[in-house]
Amino acid sequence: MSSPPAELDLGLETRFVGRRIHRYSSVVSTNAVCWEFAARGEPEGSVIVSDEQTGGRGRAGRSWHSPAGMGVWASVLLSPGLPADRVSALSIVTALSVAEALRSATGADVGVKWPNDIVAGGRKLGGVLVEAGATQGDPVESAVVGIGIDVNQTEDDFPLDIRGTATSLRILTGAEADRDAVLAAVLTRFEEDYLSYLNGGLAAMRERWRSLSATLGRRIEVDSGGERHAGGVVDVSPEGALVIEEEGSRVEIWHGDVTLAPRL
Ligand code: BTN
Repeated sequence: MSSPPAELDLGLETRFVGRRIHRYSSVVSTNAVCWEFAARGEPEGSVIVSDEQTGGRGRAGRSWHSPAGMGVWASVLLSPGLPADRVSALSIVTALSVAEALRSATGADVGVKWPNDIVAGGRKLGGVLVEAGATQGDPVESAVVGIGIDVNQTEDDFPLDIRGTATSLRILTGAEADRDAVLAAVLTRFEEDYLSYLNGGLAAMRERWRSLSATLGRRIEVDSGGERHAGGVVDVSPEGALVIEEEGSRVEIWHGDVTLAPRL
């Protein structure tokens, strides 16, 4: 395991999320460290946060640029006890929690893009990576929810390959933000939404998703495991699929990368 962590007390009034926070200066990936803690019997809701990640993991095997001092790079350990097919929708739940927490904390016009992106001004502000180990069984015993938020980068801090598509809270608001305060706001919101999802699924959240969706009503293209779809976004299903209208029929997309089609 990486250098020994310090305990971080954010003074949260949550029931279990963020009651224990292990803070590192540098790790390969907070998700990876979170799994190490899970294997040693760490309680649900514990959080790993690091100033820097040297091998931050993104969705679909991509990497996540996580420079020191610039963002919130954090992972939450959960014991959802959910059927395996209900775990991936935790990405939608978490992206919504993050977007709403950031809207309240900063006033920035932050939205969500299915399934796991946090977006603002047409650019990506953050992402969520939910991992449930192959050995977690069904119902799923443990899951790790990784949250990455670009907070204090200027344009020049982003590597060239994402400079045109990434943004940060600082770029959006013109001011640096306190990363601990951002993390506290996100964790507090996340606990509420996680419990709501465990109790009632996405039902209570679909209206909020519709109001924050950056793609609702827009034409998109989706690469879904080799299959390409194109259509207008009409909803998110109660189970978390993206619902599009393609050549007059409704099609549910369960995974994939969404690209906004150019406006006609
Ligand atoms: C994505 O949009 O591709 C998901 C990005 C998730 C990044 C976060 S940063 C904290 C946590 N640890 C990781 O290695 N990844 C997630």
